[in-house]
Amino acid sequence: TIDQKVNALLKKMTIEEKIGQLNQYTGDNAATGPITINSNKQAEIKAGLIGSMLNVVGTKYTRQYQELAMQSRLKIPLLFGQDVIHGYKTTFPLPLAEAASWDLPAIELAARVAATEASASGIHWTFAPMVDIGRDPRWGRVMEGAGEDTYLGSKIAYARVKGFQGNKLGDLNSVMACVKHFAAYGAAVGGRDYNSVDMSERMLWETYLPPFKAALDAGAATFMNSFNDINGIPATGNAYLQRDILKGKWNFQGFVVSDWGSIGEMVAHGYSKDLKAAALSAITAGSDMDMESNAYRYNLAELVKEGKVSIALIDDAVKRILRKKYELGLFDDPYKYSDDKRAEKALNNPEHRKAALEVAQKSIVLLKNDNQTLPISKSVKTIAFIGPMVKEYKENMGFWSVELPEVDYSKWIVSQWDGLQNKVGKNTKLLYAKGCEVEGDNKAGFAEAVATAKQADVVVLSIGEKRDMSGEAKSRSNLHLPGVQEDLVKAIQATGKPVVVLINAGRPLVFNWTADNVPAIVYTWWLGTEAGNAIADVLFGDYNPSGKLPMTFPREVGQIPIYYNHYSTGRPAKNESETNYVSAYIDLKNSPKYAFGHGLSYTKFNYSNLKLSSTKIKSNETIKVSFQLSNVGKVAGEEVVQLYLKDKFGSVVRPVLELKDFQKIKLNAGESKTIEFTIDKEKLSFYNSKLEWIAEPGDFEVMIGASSADIKLKSDFELQ
Ligand code: IFM
Repeated sequence: TIDQKVNALLKKMTIEEKIGQLNQYTGDNAATGPITINSNKQAEIKAGLIGSMLNVVGTKYTRQYQELAMQSRLKIPLLFGQDVIHGYKTTFPLPLAEAASWDLPAIELAARVAATEASASGIHWTFAPMVDIGRDPRWGRVMEGAGEDTYLGSKIAYARVKGFQGNKLGDLNSVMACVKHFAAYGAAVGGRDYNSVDMSERMLWETYLPPFKAALDAGAATFMNSFNDINGIPATGNAYLQRDILKGKWNFQGFVVSDWGSIGEMVAHGYSKDLKAAALSAITAGSDMDMESNAYRYNLAELVKEGKVSIALIDDAVKRILRKKYELGLFDDPYKYSDDKRAEKALNNPEHRKAALEVAQKSIVLLKNDNQTLPISKSVKTIAFIGPMVKEYKENMGFWSVELPEVDYSKWIVSQWDGLQNKVGKNTKLLYAKGCEVEGDNKAGFAEAVATAKQADVVVLSIGEKRDMSGEAKSRSNLHLPGVQEDLVKAIQATGKPVVVLINAGRPLVFNWTADNVPAIVYTWWLGTEAGNAIADVLFGDYNPSGKLPMTFPREVGQIPIYYNHYSTGRPAKNESETNYVSAYIDLKNSPKYAFGHGLSYTKFNYSNLKLSSTKIKSNETIKVSFQLSNVGKVAGEEVVQLYLKDKFGSVVRPVLELKDFQKIKLNAGESKTIEFTIDKEKLSFYNSKLEWIAEPGDFEVMIGASSADIKLKSDFELQ
């Protein structure tokens, strides 16, 4: 068995070789953190002192490094890890954008394609999925997660792990998933990346941990810990998180990698006196592999000698890592995943582009569409396509995309301009003006943009953030459209032409003037390789948008953190204008600009005929909730129907509503369908003040909505 092989190998290993397995260095591809280690990596690999590399991509380079490992005494293969976050060569939408699809098979497919391409190109391990709950859009990394909701986030975490890992590790098209960042990284104070987290146990268990557990249930092979301290202890040195919860209560058998330099950073946290103390804390707390801190490499042997770290602790970490190398089949063939032929095929597979197009279409959210401004008629004579994003191609890749040196991305990515150009017939003229840059205050291009708009029947305006404005270390205190872009919107809107605004971003932005004045707004996030085609499909109605927001869009930054499933408070405002001694702002409504779950379609859905199989149940019983969904518009479309529950009172306060289920339903024009959900004890349960997972007897409300703020049907029931 693998365990026998691991034990036999372990017996042959010196302490230095064991520690080597716990050591991970970056290679030469674009660094994903500050490089501080200057070592002779080649020599260290040959000496068996490095167990894993990140940022080494492609069959050629992974082979070269693996050849060095094969010259080491015990020939233990290297593991190659990489941030394959939303695609490898074929770039898919940002993870947050994919989450807007609420389409679990599509999300799983995106991860599968990424795994297929990466695993043919030498990569064994992706540092994904990021399952951090994101309730603060100032935090730039919300782009990498599944949004604010624990239920949706858990489902997506599960789907992504399944997609990356396939049926089992060792299959050719599978890579190991790495669930990150353990834990609560998304709750950084003020939305400032790497900042501290102070969180109640109940919040941790109720809101932040479930997606990690879901990923583990899907079989996730590895976890990454996080940069933040939580309740005073850095996550990397946090035994409660890693030993008690992850490896204890949850019985996680894989290994934990630190985040980049996060062991060493415990010194800056003011938690560890020096790198040696940091190494001691990290290994004791359950961090198995040291990414780019060099803390283990230079300190663990001494700590063992001094009796501060038991050899059993080291052996446990080494075994966890070796086990994965065996499961991947690397001892049988260390070059198994560096296969030129397979890579050539996988990286140019038209099916992958097709998948990227489909997922991109599904990720787009139609925020507003007054006067049926969209879809644009294909027989329209002149379209003005204006804005700083229109002709950019690389921007569409978004943050955290893998950039392969050999790929000519100008040919590989469909720009928004090319997408529209591909779509319009010979009789439609497409005009272009840039208008302005994304940032800066230069309005010199406005006159040309306005003149161009005046010549057109309809204007499409593509604006937003640059792709590197949301991502790691990209926190922003101001979420308004950057630069003079909203002024450009005003200038174009003043022409009186019908205007469609496309907003490209990795997070919810604030654009109140645009939202209140422009008739049609499409949130395109960053959509990847097929961005231009997907956007064109939506603009012309060849794809009917079905995305729903996975995060609440605030009216102003001052509302943040804002999320739909908040508690009620003792003084809830009865309406938006009430401010007198109630929980409200005196200068702003409480409600968001766009609610969690919001997203329009080119057709209309009608919800009717809610039925509950019972209005009184015991805790071992279930309720069937059914209703009729009808497509009463003129075209086929998909609707994400959302089931929310409210526990009206409890031994601890409960959210005003909580997503507990959803389905994505496709209906032809005129078609109706009976939709059914089941409510069971699990859906009614929560953590009480003793952190027990229980369902308390009492009154509940079930709500069926098209969004968290657009509840169509509701009914009460009682748990006895
Ligand atoms: O995987 C990432 C992590 O999410 C942030 N720091 C760097 C790691 C490796 O690139």
